[in-house]
Amino acid sequence: MSDPVVYVTREIPDAGLELVAAETEMHVWDGKLPPEKDHIIERLEELEADGLLCLLTDETDGEVMDASPNLDVISTFSVGYDHVDIDAAMERGIAVGHTPGVLSDTTADFAWAMLMTTARRTVEGSEYVLADEWETWGPKLLTGPDVSGATLGIVGLGNIGSVVAQRTAGFDMDVLYTDAEPQPDVEEDLADYGVDAQYVSKDELLERSDFVTLHVPLMEPTHHYISEDELRAMKDSAVLVNTSRGPVVDTEALDKALENDWIERAGLDVTDPEPLPGDHEITRHVPEKLVVTPHIASASIQTRDKMATMAAKNLLAGLRGEELPNSAVEDWQRK
Ligand code: GLV
Repeated sequence: MSDPVVYVTREIPDAGLELVAAETEMHVWDGKLPPEKDHIIERLEELEADGLLCLLTDETDGEVMDASPNLDVISTFSVGYDHVDIDAAMERGIAVGHTPGVLSDTTADFAWAMLMTTARRTVEGSEYVLADEWETWGPKLLTGPDVSGATLGIVGLGNIGSVVAQRTAGFDMDVLYTDAEPQPDVEEDLADYGVDAQYVSKDELLERSDFVTLHVPLMEPTHHYISEDELRAMKDSAVLVNTSRGPVVDTEALDKALENDWIERAGLDVTDPEPLPGDHEITRHVPEKLVVTPHIASASIQTRDKMATMAAKNLLAGLRGEELPNSAVEDWQRK
Protein backbone atom coordinates (compact mmCIF):
# COMPACT_ATOMS: atom_id res chain seq x y z
CA MET A 1 0.00 0.00 0.00
CA SER A 2 1.31 3.48 -0.80
CA ASP A 3 2.05 5.97 1.95
CA PRO A 4 -0.68 8.41 2.93
CA VAL A 5 -0.31 11.87 1.43
CA VAL A 6 -0.12 14.91 3.69
CA TYR A 7 0.09 18.63 3.14
CA VAL A 8 1.93 20.78 5.69
CA THR A 9 1.17 24.50 5.45
CA ARG A 10 4.52 25.78 6.78
CA GLU A 11 7.93 24.53 7.71
CA ILE A 12 7.61 23.45 11.35
CA PRO A 13 10.61 22.27 13.44
CA ASP A 14 12.41 19.15 12.16
CA ALA A 15 11.38 17.21 15.27
CA GLY A 16 7.89 17.02 13.75
CA LEU A 17 8.70 17.02 10.04
CA GLU A 18 11.01 14.03 10.39
CA LEU A 19 8.28 11.96 12.07
CA VAL A 20 5.79 12.86 9.36
CA ALA A 21 8.25 12.29 6.51
CA ALA A 22 9.11 8.81 7.81
CA GLU A 23 5.55 7.55 7.35
CA THR A 24 3.96 9.65 4.64
CA GLU A 25 4.38 11.28 1.28
CA MET A 26 4.85 14.76 2.71
CA HIS A 27 4.43 18.03 0.85
CA VAL A 28 5.44 21.22 2.66
CA TRP A 29 4.59 24.82 1.72
CA ASP A 30 7.97 26.51 1.85
CA GLY A 31 6.86 30.16 1.84
CA LYS A 32 7.69 32.43 4.77
CA LEU A 33 4.12 33.75 4.78
CA PRO A 34 1.10 31.44 5.08
CA PRO A 35 -0.32 30.02 1.85
CA GLU A 36 -3.58 31.62 0.70
CA LYS A 37 -6.66 29.58 1.58
CA ASP A 38 -7.26 29.00 -2.16
CA HIS A 39 -3.79 27.58 -2.47
CA ILE A 40 -4.38 25.14 0.40
CA ILE A 41 -7.60 24.04 -1.30
CA GLU A 42 -5.80 23.61 -4.60
CA ARG A 43 -3.00 21.53 -3.07
CA LEU A 44 -5.37 19.33 -1.08
CA GLU A 45 -7.38 18.79 -4.24
CA GLU A 46 -4.47 17.91 -6.52
CA LEU A 47 -2.76 15.72 -3.91
CA GLU A 48 -6.03 14.09 -2.83
CA ALA A 49 -4.45 14.48 0.58
CA ASP A 50 -5.24 12.19 3.50
CA GLY A 51 -3.95 14.59 6.11
CA LEU A 52 -3.42 18.31 6.68
CA LEU A 53 -0.98 19.77 9.17
CA CYS A 54 -1.90 23.42 9.57
CA LEU A 55 -1.08 26.48 11.66
CA LEU A 56 -3.18 29.00 13.54
CA THR A 57 -2.79 31.32 10.55
CA ASP A 58 -4.76 28.98 8.26
CA GLU A 59 -8.52 29.36 8.20
CA THR A 60 -9.61 25.73 7.98
CA ASP A 61 -13.32 25.53 7.28
CA GLY A 62 -15.69 23.16 5.48
CA GLU A 63 -14.56 24.41 2.08
CA VAL A 64 -10.97 23.43 2.87
CA MET A 65 -12.11 20.09 4.28
CA ASP A 66 -14.09 19.32 1.12
CA ALA A 67 -11.08 19.88 -1.13
CA SER A 68 -9.89 16.31 -0.78
CA PRO A 69 -12.31 13.39 -0.61
CA ASN A 70 -9.68 11.42 1.33
CA LEU A 71 -9.09 13.88 4.17
CA ASP A 72 -9.09 11.92 7.45
CA VAL A 73 -7.25 14.21 9.81
CA ILE A 74 -6.33 17.82 10.45
CA SER A 75 -3.58 18.48 12.94
CA THR A 76 -2.87 22.02 14.04
CA PHE A 77 0.51 23.13 15.32
CA SER A 78 -1.15 25.14 18.12
CA VAL A 79 -3.17 24.66 21.25
CA GLY A 80 -5.82 27.11 20.04
CA TYR A 81 -8.11 25.79 17.32
CA ASP A 82 -10.43 28.74 16.71
CA HIS A 83 -9.17 28.76 13.10
CA VAL A 84 -10.57 25.25 12.54
CA ASP A 85 -14.30 24.75 12.11
CA ILE A 86 -14.72 21.85 14.53
CA ASP A 87 -18.43 21.40 13.80
CA ALA A 88 -17.65 21.10 10.08
CA ALA A 89 -14.94 18.52 10.85
CA MET A 90 -17.32 16.52 13.04
CA GLU A 91 -19.99 16.54 10.32
CA ARG A 92 -17.43 15.11 7.91
CA GLY A 93 -15.93 12.61 10.35
CA ILE A 94 -12.53 14.29 10.14
CA ALA A 95 -10.35 14.02 13.25
CA VAL A 96 -8.72 17.22 14.54
CA GLY A 97 -5.64 17.35 16.76
CA HIS A 98 -4.03 20.22 18.69
CA THR A 99 -1.11 20.73 21.10
CA PRO A 100 -2.30 21.36 24.68
CA GLY A 101 -0.09 21.13 27.75
CA VAL A 102 3.37 21.26 26.16
CA LEU A 103 3.30 25.03 25.82
CA SER A 104 1.69 25.92 29.15
CA ASP A 105 4.91 26.68 31.07
CA THR A 106 6.45 28.63 28.22
CA THR A 107 3.30 30.65 27.58
CA ALA A 108 2.80 31.35 31.28
CA ASP A 109 6.43 32.46 31.52
CA PHE A 110 5.79 34.86 28.67
CA ALA A 111 2.61 36.22 30.25
CA TRP A 112 4.77 37.02 33.26
CA ALA A 113 7.44 38.60 31.08
CA MET A 114 4.74 40.75 29.48
CA LEU A 115 3.22 41.67 32.84
CA MET A 116 6.57 42.66 34.30
CA THR A 117 7.80 44.52 31.26
CA THR A 118 4.55 46.43 30.88
CA ALA A 119 4.39 47.35 34.55
CA ARG A 120 8.06 48.20 34.93
CA ARG A 121 8.44 49.99 31.62
CA THR A 122 11.46 48.14 30.25
CA VAL A 123 10.66 48.76 26.57
CA GLU A 124 10.15 52.43 27.27
CA GLY A 125 13.40 52.49 29.25
CA SER A 126 15.33 50.93 26.42
CA GLU A 127 13.96 53.42 23.90
CA TYR A 128 14.77 56.26 26.28
CA VAL A 129 18.40 55.20 26.39
CA LEU A 130 18.60 54.72 22.62
CA ALA A 131 17.08 58.18 22.10
CA ASP A 132 20.00 59.52 24.14
CA GLU A 133 17.68 61.01 26.72
CA TRP A 134 19.35 59.39 29.74
CA GLU A 135 21.06 62.25 31.54
CA THR A 136 21.05 61.09 35.14
CA TRP A 137 19.56 58.67 37.67
CA GLY A 138 16.15 60.09 38.52
CA PRO A 139 13.99 59.65 41.64
CA LYS A 140 10.85 59.68 39.52
CA LEU A 141 12.27 58.33 36.29
CA LEU A 142 10.07 55.66 34.65
CA THR A 143 8.34 54.61 37.84
CA GLY A 144 5.68 51.91 37.55
CA PRO A 145 3.43 49.92 39.87
CA ASP A 146 4.78 47.20 42.15
CA VAL A 147 4.12 43.65 41.06
CA SER A 148 5.00 42.13 44.45
CA GLY A 149 2.09 42.33 46.83
CA ALA A 150 -0.39 43.35 44.12
CA THR A 151 -3.66 41.66 43.20
CA LEU A 152 -3.57 39.51 40.08
CA GLY A 153 -6.80 38.70 38.25
CA ILE A 154 -6.62 35.62 36.03
CA VAL A 155 -9.35 35.13 33.45
CA GLY A 156 -9.46 31.40 32.71
CA LEU A 157 -7.81 29.02 35.19
CA GLY A 158 -7.07 26.33 32.59
CA ASN A 159 -3.71 24.83 31.59
CA ILE A 160 -1.98 28.17 31.09
CA GLY A 161 -3.87 30.32 33.60
CA SER A 162 -3.14 27.85 36.39
CA VAL A 163 0.60 27.95 35.66
CA VAL A 164 0.46 31.75 35.69
CA ALA A 165 -1.11 31.40 39.15
CA GLN A 166 1.66 29.01 40.31
CA ARG A 167 4.25 31.62 39.37
CA THR A 168 2.74 34.13 41.85
CA ALA A 169 4.21 32.13 44.73
CA GLY A 170 7.37 34.23 44.81
CA PHE A 171 5.52 37.52 44.51
CA ASP A 172 3.27 37.41 47.55
CA MET A 173 0.24 38.37 45.48
CA ASP A 174 -3.47 38.08 46.07
CA VAL A 175 -4.78 35.84 43.30
CA LEU A 176 -8.31 36.14 41.97
CA TYR A 177 -9.67 34.15 39.06
CA THR A 178 -12.83 33.90 37.08
CA ASP A 179 -13.95 31.10 34.81
CA ALA A 180 -17.16 29.47 33.58
CA GLU A 181 -17.30 27.84 37.02
CA PRO A 182 -15.10 27.47 40.12
CA GLN A 183 -12.14 25.11 39.71
CA PRO A 184 -11.75 23.45 43.15
CA ASP A 185 -9.25 20.83 41.90
CA VAL A 186 -7.00 23.49 40.43
CA GLU A 187 -7.35 25.56 43.61
CA GLU A 188 -6.20 22.51 45.57
CA ASP A 189 -3.16 22.01 43.33
CA LEU A 190 -2.30 25.68 43.68
CA ALA A 191 -2.49 25.41 47.47
CA ASP A 192 0.49 22.99 47.20
CA TYR A 193 2.44 25.89 45.71
CA GLY A 194 1.32 28.13 48.57
CA VAL A 195 -1.07 29.98 46.29
CA ASP A 196 -4.56 30.77 47.51
CA ALA A 197 -6.59 31.41 44.34
CA GLN A 198 -10.03 32.84 45.00
CA TYR A 199 -12.91 32.39 42.54
CA VAL A 200 -14.80 35.64 41.91
CA SER A 201 -17.25 37.00 39.36
CA LYS A 202 -15.95 38.76 36.28
CA ASP A 203 -17.14 42.10 37.71
CA GLU A 204 -15.36 41.60 41.01
CA LEU A 205 -12.16 40.52 39.27
CA LEU A 206 -12.13 43.61 37.08
CA GLU A 207 -12.88 45.89 39.99
CA ARG A 208 -10.27 44.48 42.40
CA SER A 209 -7.31 43.50 40.23
CA ASP A 210 -4.14 45.53 39.74
CA PHE A 211 -3.19 43.21 36.88
CA VAL A 212 -5.63 41.35 34.65
CA THR A 213 -4.26 38.53 32.50
CA LEU A 214 -6.34 36.68 29.90
CA HIS A 215 -6.12 32.92 29.35
CA VAL A 216 -9.33 31.91 27.60
CA PRO A 217 -9.81 30.28 24.21
CA LEU A 218 -11.48 32.40 21.54
CA MET A 219 -15.11 31.31 21.33
CA GLU A 220 -18.35 33.18 20.93
CA PRO A 221 -18.68 34.06 24.65
CA THR A 222 -15.07 35.25 24.86
CA HIS A 223 -15.13 37.41 21.72
CA HIS A 224 -14.61 41.00 22.99
CA TYR A 225 -14.69 39.66 26.54
CA ILE A 226 -12.82 42.87 27.39
CA SER A 227 -14.62 45.79 25.82
CA GLU A 228 -15.59 49.32 26.82
CA ASP A 229 -17.66 48.41 29.91
CA GLU A 230 -14.96 46.11 31.26
CA LEU A 231 -12.18 48.63 30.67
CA ARG A 232 -14.19 51.31 32.44
CA ALA A 233 -14.78 48.91 35.34
CA MET A 234 -11.05 48.26 35.84
CA LYS A 235 -8.90 50.34 38.17
CA ASP A 236 -7.41 53.35 36.42
CA SER A 237 -4.03 52.08 37.65
CA ALA A 238 -4.59 48.59 36.19
CA VAL A 239 -2.42 46.77 33.67
CA LEU A 240 -4.06 44.43 31.14
CA VAL A 241 -2.11 41.53 29.61
CA ASN A 242 -3.36 39.47 26.68
CA THR A 243 -1.52 36.35 25.54
CA SER A 244 -4.68 34.44 24.51
CA ARG A 245 -6.24 35.54 21.21
CA GLY A 246 -6.50 39.06 19.83
CA PRO A 247 -10.30 39.30 19.48
CA VAL A 248 -10.77 38.51 23.19
CA VAL A 249 -10.04 42.24 23.58
CA ASP A 250 -11.94 44.88 21.62
CA THR A 251 -9.04 46.83 20.10
CA GLU A 252 -11.02 50.01 19.54
CA ALA A 253 -12.21 50.02 23.14
CA LEU A 254 -8.67 49.43 24.38
CA ASP A 255 -7.44 52.31 22.26
CA LYS A 256 -10.05 54.54 23.92
CA ALA A 257 -9.18 53.21 27.37
CA LEU A 258 -5.50 54.04 26.92
CA GLU A 259 -6.32 57.43 25.42
CA ASN A 260 -8.63 58.37 28.30
CA ASP A 261 -6.63 56.74 31.12
CA TRP A 262 -9.37 54.28 32.04
CA ILE A 263 -6.48 51.88 32.65
CA GLU A 264 -2.78 52.55 33.05
CA ARG A 265 -1.18 50.25 30.50
CA ALA A 266 -1.57 47.13 28.38
CA GLY A 267 0.71 44.38 27.10
CA LEU A 268 -0.45 42.46 24.04
CA ASP A 269 1.16 39.42 22.49
CA VAL A 270 -1.96 38.83 20.41
CA THR A 271 -3.85 41.51 18.53
CA ASP A 272 -6.89 42.16 16.42
CA PRO A 273 -6.12 42.55 13.59
CA GLU A 274 -3.23 40.12 13.59
CA PRO A 275 -0.61 40.76 12.37
CA LEU A 276 -0.94 44.31 13.67
CA PRO A 277 0.37 46.80 11.10
CA GLY A 278 3.15 48.94 12.56
CA ASP A 279 1.16 52.04 11.72
CA HIS A 280 -2.12 50.83 13.28
CA GLU A 281 -3.74 53.59 15.34
CA ILE A 282 -3.27 51.80 18.64
CA THR A 283 0.52 51.73 18.20
CA ARG A 284 0.63 55.45 19.01
CA HIS A 285 0.44 54.33 22.67
CA VAL A 286 3.73 52.41 22.34
CA PRO A 287 5.85 52.44 24.45
CA GLU A 288 4.41 54.69 27.17
CA LYS A 289 1.15 52.81 27.59
CA LEU A 290 1.38 49.79 25.38
CA VAL A 291 3.80 46.95 24.71
CA VAL A 292 3.14 44.75 21.68
CA THR A 293 4.89 41.56 20.61
CA PRO A 294 4.16 39.37 17.55
CA HIS A 295 2.31 36.35 19.06
CA ILE A 296 5.44 34.70 20.45
CA ALA A 297 4.30 33.50 23.89
CA SER A 298 5.00 29.83 23.10
CA ALA A 299 8.14 30.59 21.13
CA SER A 300 10.85 28.78 23.06
CA ILE A 301 13.04 26.44 21.05
CA GLN A 302 12.19 23.45 23.23
CA THR A 303 8.45 24.12 23.24
CA ARG A 304 8.24 24.57 19.49
CA ASP A 305 9.99 21.18 19.11
CA LYS A 306 7.46 19.60 21.49
CA MET A 307 4.56 21.18 19.61
CA ALA A 308 5.94 19.88 16.32
CA THR A 309 6.30 16.37 17.73
CA MET A 310 2.80 16.43 19.18
CA ALA A 311 1.27 17.77 15.97
CA ALA A 312 3.06 15.03 14.00
CA LYS A 313 1.85 12.31 16.39
CA ASN A 314 -1.74 13.54 16.17
CA LEU A 315 -1.52 13.56 12.38
CA LEU A 316 -0.03 10.07 12.16
CA ALA A 317 -2.57 8.61 14.59
CA GLY A 318 -5.39 10.06 12.50
CA LEU A 319 -3.91 8.62 9.31
CA ARG A 320 -3.76 5.19 10.94
CA GLY A 321 -7.39 5.52 11.99
CA GLU A 322 -6.38 5.56 15.66
CA GLU A 323 -7.68 7.83 18.38
CA LEU A 324 -5.71 11.08 18.44
CA PRO A 325 -3.48 11.54 21.52
CA ASN A 326 -4.76 15.13 21.74
CA SER A 327 -8.11 15.59 20.10
CA ALA A 328 -9.48 19.11 19.63
CA VAL A 329 -12.90 17.60 18.95
CA GLU A 330 -12.99 16.06 22.43
CA ASP A 331 -11.77 19.30 23.94
CA TRP A 332 -14.47 21.22 22.05
CA GLN A 333 -17.17 18.83 23.24
CA ARG A 334 -16.08 19.33 26.86
CA LYS A 335 -16.44 23.12 26.54
C1 GLV B 1 -0.65 29.75 20.21
O1 GLV B 1 -1.24 30.78 20.30
C2 GLV B 1 -1.29 28.47 20.19
O2 GLV B 1 -2.53 28.40 20.14
O3 GLV B 1 -0.57 27.46 20.19
